[in-house]
Amino acid sequence: MNQPATITLRDGRTAAVRPLRAGDVDALTTFFTSLSQATISRYGPHPFDRATAEKLCAQADDPRTTRFVAELAESSRLIGYMILTREIWEGDQKRYSWLGSFDDTACLAPVIADDMQNQGIGSQMGQVVLAAAREMGIRRVILMGGVIADNNIARRLYEKLGFRQLGEFKTQHATRGDILNYDMMVEFVKE
Ligand SMILES: CC(C)(COP(=O)(O)OP(=O)(O)OC[C@H]1O[C@@H](n2cnc3c(N)ncnc32)[C@H](O)[C@@H]1OP(=O)(O)O)[C@@H](O)C(=O)NCCC(=O)NCCS
Repeated sequence: MNQPATITLRDGRTAAVRPLRAGDVDALTTFFTSLSQATISRYGPHPFDRATAEKLCAQADDPRTTRFVAELAESSRLIGYMILTREIWEGDQKRYSWLGSFDDTACLAPVIADDMQNQGIGSQMGQVVLAAAREMGIRRVILMGGVIADNNIARRLYEKLGFRQLGEFKTQHATRGDILNYDMMVEFVKE
């Protein structure tokens, strides 16, 4: 992605979607530490603290992983964060072993700030991230750790982005017991 892409919020404000930079530590820390427990319970790629923000910003040039952020134009506040990575979790590799190879595969993990969810930001940002994935030569994108079955807003987002539902699997949660999840994948058509 050479230039940041501009997305427009429902109220007309704009945000730039771009890869995370080394200088984003403070903004990313604010974003991480303001996520609610409800959001974190659906989204768990890593801890959400300053130490993690520092580590991730220091790794901003990692060729295997691009972390995209959406930055509000008016305040430089970060309102969205999406991981696109060729590092596939072991559990995901097992469930997707039928793919044979993960050479052209990336996985996606999106989160939008609580007060900004359900306003079309994830959909617009997801389109930018998937377009960037194509540019990187990625042929298919799966979900990092799948999607929890009752996460209807996320499932709707993925459907809108062209993902289709594949298998289902259960994970165990300390207080919530067995949780049903779905795997979803989008494959890019060759042009
Ligand atoms: C999932 C998430 C990334 C989606 O981003 P978003 O910006 O909120 O989503 P959007 O506003 O772009 O799109 C949401 C879609 O879901 C629809 N939707 C909202 N609530 C819904 C519900 N309860 N059931 C079904 N669809 C619903 C919206 O109407 C919209 O579809 P539409 O454009 O056709 O009207 C965001 O809500 C989030 O961060 N959630 C918490 C973390 C999370 O769940 N991450 C994904 C882990 S797999």
